[in-house]
Amino acid sequence: MRIAVVGSGYVGLVAGACFADLGHEVILVDNDEQKLAALQNGQVPIHEKFLPELLERHRGRRLTFSGDLHAAVQASNAIFIAVGTPPTEQGHADLSYVESVARAIPSAINGYKVVVEKSTVPVYTSDWIRKIILRNAAAPDSFDVASNPEFLREGTAVTDFLYPDRIVVGADNERCAAVLREIYAPLTDGSYYQRQDAIPQPDRAQIPPPLIVTSTKSAELIKHASNAFLAMKISFINAVASVCESVGANVQQVCQGIGSDSRIGPRFLNPGIGYGGSCFPKDLKAFRAVAHESGYEFRLLDEVMQINEEQRRRFLRKVRSALWTLRGKRLAVLGLAFKGGTDDIRESPAIMLVQTLLQEGCRIATYDPAAHERAREVLNSSVDFADNPYHAAHGADALLILTEWDEFATLDLQRLHRELKYPIVIDGRNLYDPELMVAQGFTYYSIGRPAVSPESHPLEAGTSTGAFGK
Ligand code: UDX
Ligand code: UDX
Repeated sequence: MRIAVVGSGYVGLVAGACFADLGHEVILVDNDEQKLAALQNGQVPIHEKFLPELLERHRGRRLTFSGDLHAAVQASNAIFIAVGTPPTEQGHADLSYVESVARAIPSAINGYKVVVEKSTVPVYTSDWIRKIILRNAAAPDSFDVASNPEFLREGTAVTDFLYPDRIVVGADNERCAAVLREIYAPLTDGSYYQRQDAIPQPDRAQIPPPLIVTSTKSAELIKHASNAFLAMKISFINAVASVCESVGANVQQVCQGIGSDSRIGPRFLNPGIGYGGSCFPKDLKAFRAVAHESGYEFRLLDEVMQINEEQRRRFLRKVRSALWTLRGKRLAVLGLAFKGGTDDIRESPAIMLVQTLLQEGCRIATYDPAAHERAREVLNSSVDFADNPYHAAHGADALLILTEWDEFATLDLQRLHRELKYPIVIDGRNLYDPELMVAQGFTYYSIGRPAVSPESHPLEAGTSTGAFGK
């Protein structure tokens, strides 16, 4: 198949590289000349596991980069739209980039084309894309519009693409569905997984993955409803964690107990400082807005968002209860990305917390394995960027863990203890066992579990611990 992917950001670049790995001829289109030049020169603009290998494998061969949308559409059977859909001030998805791509397609139609929405879009978007293409003088039977939502998590996007739980294809006729079936055939017939050079299989892979064909409207809803459900699961457990803190229970034990019910499942039940990223926050708002416009008030989603914001405020209260006053305190912050495994800081709760702590007069030294460059753009010179966690911790009044990087779960605790001025760790991602931390001499706060300290173990909720020192 000949495929054009329009938009080479987090989603489009991964999709394009993976389509090439399935054996298709792919043109990645972008209107950002700098990005195109970087991609053509062999640079990898985002931190994503296995992406450098795939780009290296296919660049200049089955995968080319271009700023010429017209030529790319002419050369392709399927055109995937993967441009951004940022939220407007009212919470709607801004579809102007999608519309501008749709307007450019008709003049390039030179045979049957399938236009595929890959960006997350509200339920009426495929109808609009169709209308816009028709309005610009394309013949009705020369194209179809399909929805093929992505379920890629940043950091594991390549394996999520190649080893998906399911592939959802929203197509309103068989001619259109057949094109998408053919594109994904190497996955659904299992042939990709026989290859020696296949990207390695992750745990829990469903091989071969099922391909679910629905109407385009249902596919659009599946995407929003999936993300809303996952965000709801996170807010649910964060709310349970708050109750655990009030009554002195341990949320980890509660998670184990409820997550082992196969109807609930253990994944996406990790409490923390709230969800962030380019998808959940904006998709929840957009889904809420779509429901409102269609006449249904989806108030459950308001509560999910509310709990998420409250989670950051609760964390700040924890920092205060550990340090008493904040002005002039020196804090070490581990993690700036919105989650582990990525350099993405969009809607990162870690960045939001750092900004609030700076406003409160704290001095901050931070370390993130991948996000320094992007974080510098928003934090400027107001924080020190350290080379490693221990340099960040040197001389600090407390250490805050804000992103669930694997690297932060395996720190040399004795070294950390030596570096910190006071051995206080406030863990927003529950990466450590409180018993272990107290045994290593730390005062340790986490989410939904009793705070512990070598002096009094466990700490009473709300105890001021500013005086703990070595
Ligand atoms: C995607 C989806 O599009 C979004 O709907 C989903 O919810 C999250 O993921 P993402 O890939 O993260 O967005 O966006 P971004 O990294 O901003 O990439 C978009 C790319 O499209 C950029 O490279 C941008 O230059 C390009 N673009 C944008 C175009 O080529 N043409 C345009 O008209 C607009
Ligand atoms: C998400 C969806 O998972 C993916 O299917 C969709 O296509 C794009 O949006 P992503 O935003 O990359 O992916 O990350 P995800 O792993 O879902 O995490 C989102 C946020 O939730 C992160 O801030 C993460 O730290 C947080 N999270 C996740 C929790 O707080 N607890 C959890 O148990 C899981």
